[in-house]
Amino acid sequence: MSLARFERTACGLGNRRSILLSYRDPLGLYHKYPNTAPAGTLSAAVCFTILRPMAVSHDALINQLVPLLSAKRLAHSLRVAATAKQLARHYGSDEDCASQAGILHDIAKHQTPNTLREMGIVCTEWDSCWEHFPSVWHALVGPVVVRHFFPDLGDTLTNPIRYHTTGYKTMDTLTMILFVADFIEPERPIPHRAVIEEQAYTQLHQAVGTIAAHTVATLQADNRPIHPYTHACMATYGPPETAVGWTP
Ligand SMILES: [Fe+2]
Ligand SMILES: [Fe+2]
Repeated sequence: MSLARFERTACGLGNRRSILLSYRDPLGLYHKYPNTAPAGTLSAAVCFTILRPMAVSHDALINQLVPLLSAKRLAHSLRVAATAKQLARHYGSDEDCASQAGILHDIAKHQTPNTLREMGIVCTEWDSCWEHFPSVWHALVGPVVVRHFFPDLGDTLTNPIRYHTTGYKTMDTLTMILFVADFIEPERPIPHRAVIEEQAYTQLHQAVGTIAAHTVATLQADNRPIHPYTHACMATYGPPETAVGWTP
């Protein structure tokens, strides 16, 4: 990668130099490379942050998932990707990111802390979640697993994947889209799916609240613990009195 292709600004910071490099790749994606290095040295390839995911093909993502997911889970992920892409188009969000988030969101679904360790993936900070909220754990560690297999993807998908099961107190559009898409994908066997799908295309925030309410009601009925992120999501987004599936 030639430095001549970079647009560079540099400003002095003591005897060090804060360097900001940015460029557009041949596909038009924008990359930014902040780095702090001793004046006179320039290492463009280190400490970089990619503002948008690199152009990793969907086939490359799916090929990596084949040994990690069952056929049934992969089919679910592809339906979530298609649903997320439709929602992104409806709300003017990035369709490619939404699709990637859908493909990858359950990447850790069949893993355990031990199997991740065997793969050389360290995310012990979430081990207590495995003990108390095992069905949530795969979402929280998902971004770590994505970063392991796709280090060039950047951080755009971190929040959508991390909060796709619980929701969160504040969710950007892509995070809400994945959260909702995971719930309303066409083969989800849930009551009121069609009604919530309609809500998703009219009031995305309200759909998030409805889904959070549905999750809380279902977990309470099964006498299962509710993750604090789900409570936080409920506090922000719902439940509206008209929420489908919510019973006070
Ligand atoms: Fe999931
Ligand atoms: Fe899922």
